[in-house]
Amino acid sequence: MITTTSSWKKLVALGKEAPQSTLSGLFAADDQRATRNTLHLNLGSGSIIADFSKQNITPEIVSALLELAQEASVPSRRDAMFAGDPVNSSEAQPALHVALRAPSTQKIVVDGIDVVKEVQQVRQSMADFANGVRNGKIVGATGKPFTHIINVGIGGSDLGPALVWDALSQTLTPSLHCSFVSNVDPVEVEKVLEGHDAQCTLIVMCSKTFSTTETLSNSRIIQRWLAGSVGDTGVAQHCVVVSVEPQRATSAGIAFAHSFNIWPWVGGRYSVSSAVNLANVVAFGSDVFDDFLGGMCAVDKHFVEAPLATNIPVMMGLISVWNRSILGRETQAVVPYATAMRLFAPYLQQLIMESNGKQVGSDNVVVATQTSPVVWGSIGTNSQHAFMQMLHQGTSVVPVDLIGFARTPAVHGDAHDSLMANMFAQAQALAFGAESTEPQRVMPGNRASTVLMASELSAQTLGALIALYEHSVFVQGCVWGINSFDQWGVELGKKLAQNISEQIAQGVPSSDQDASTSQLLQWYLKHQ
Ligand code: F6P
Repeated sequence: MITTTSSWKKLVALGKEAPQSTLSGLFAADDQRATRNTLHLNLGSGSIIADFSKQNITPEIVSALLELAQEASVPSRRDAMFAGDPVNSSEAQPALHVALRAPSTQKIVVDGIDVVKEVQQVRQSMADFANGVRNGKIVGATGKPFTHIINVGIGGSDLGPALVWDALSQTLTPSLHCSFVSNVDPVEVEKVLEGHDAQCTLIVMCSKTFSTTETLSNSRIIQRWLAGSVGDTGVAQHCVVVSVEPQRATSAGIAFAHSFNIWPWVGGRYSVSSAVNLANVVAFGSDVFDDFLGGMCAVDKHFVEAPLATNIPVMMGLISVWNRSILGRETQAVVPYATAMRLFAPYLQQLIMESNGKQVGSDNVVVATQTSPVVWGSIGTNSQHAFMQMLHQGTSVVPVDLIGFARTPAVHGDAHDSLMANMFAQAQALAFGAESTEPQRVMPGNRASTVLMASELSAQTLGALIALYEHSVFVQGCVWGINSFDQWGVELGKKLAQNISEQIAQGVPSSDQDASTSQLLQWYLKHQ
C-alpha cells in the first residue's frame, strides 16, 4: 500500500509543514525558483512549457514526490503500458492508446498481432475515405456531395471529437461542417437535424461497444430522418460506423456503407487518437489528423524518455497527488485562456474522473487515500467574471491549471495580449494575494496554479496537451494503485435506467421500487 512507503510518510510530514512556507516566501528565498520549476517540451514546429513554480512545492517536496514515483513503480508500469501488457487488470487487457499514434516503424505485439500495423491500415483507410468525401468521389444517395457531418456518440465517442472540432475550427477552415449529437434528450437530436439537409449529410456513428442506449436511440432517430429524404435504400450510403464490432450495429438494425475499426484495448476516454476522431479527419483532412497524432506521439516519447524530474506528465501527475492526497484539495480547476478550448474542461472531466474516480485498488483492497479530484473549469477571461472570486478569497483552496498560447491567428493581436495578461495576472493574484487594511479586501494568496503554455493552438499542440493529461492521469493511477482503465461505476446507473424505462413503457412503477422513485415515476406518468 502506497501510504506505508517512506516517501509517502515523508510527504505527509511535509504536508503538515507546507502552510508555513508561503509562495511569496519561497520566491523571495530563491531567485531560481521560476526557472528550476519550469519544464520544456520541444515538439519540432511548436513547443510547450509547464511552469510549476506557483505550486505549493519545495525542493524537498519535489524530491519526495520523485521518490514516490519510484516506489509506485511509475517507470516500470509506464513501460508495461507501452509494451501492451494487460495493465487494465479487471478487464485483462492492455491500454494501448499510445499504439494509435506510434511511429509506423514501431512494433507492439498483442496476442501475436502487431497492433501498430493494424492501426496504420485503419489510418490509411480513414485517409482514403476522408479524401473521397472531400474530393466529391464519395457522395450521398442522391448524388450530392457531403457538406455536413453529424457525429453520434457519447462519452469518449463524443467529447474528444467535439473538443478537436471546436478547437481547430476556430483556427483552420474545415471543408465540411461538423455537429455533435450525444444526449438521449430528443430535443438535442431534433434541433441538430433541423439545421441539416439530409441529402448532403454524412453520419458518423461512434460507439466502441455499439450497445450504448443513447447512441442507439440517436442513430435510429437519424436513420428515420435520412430515410425520409433519401429513401430506405439510400440510408446506408450516408452512414459510417466506428466500433470494435461494426456488425453489432447491423444486429441493432443500423444500416451503414462504411465502417472503421477500433480495438478492445482503446479505452473510450482514450479514443481521440483512433477512428473515433473520423469526423475531424474528414472535415480537416488527414494531414491535420497526422499533425494531431504527431503532437501526441512527441509527448509519448517524452513520457518514456525524459528523466522523471524533467518529465512534464510525471510532474503534473505527482503534483496532482500532492494537492489531492496530501494537501486535501478536493477539486481541480482547468482554465484555458482561449475560447477555442472551451470544451477542454468537459473533456478532462471524463478523462480524469472516469479514470481515477475509484476507491478500490487494482489489488481489490480499499485505498487508504483520496483519489480523483472533482475536475471543473471554463475559459478565461469569462471565468474571472464568474467563479474566480471564490478561488481567490473562498474558504476552499482550488489548484488551477491555466493554459495559454503565445501566438494567435486573430488579426487583433492586442486583444490577445490582453487575454494573456489576464492569465498571468490570475496566476500572480492567486499566488501572492494582496494586503489591505480592510479585511474583506485581503487576498490571502498562496493558492496553487500551474501555467501550461504552448506556442500556438494547432492540431499538434492540442494533441500534445491531451496526451500530457492522459499520462498525468496514468501517473496518478499508479501512485494510488488503481486501475485507470475500467469504469465499473458507470454500469449500475445504465442497468437501473433500463429497468425504469421498461416501467415507464408499461405505464406503472413496479411494486419493488423504493418509495421515492415510485412517487417520482407516478408524478412523471401523470404529468406527461
Ligand atoms: O460513460 C461510460 C462509457 O462507457 C465511457 O467510458 C465511454 O466513452 C462511453 O460510455 C461511450 O461508450 P461507447 O463508445 O461504447 O458507446
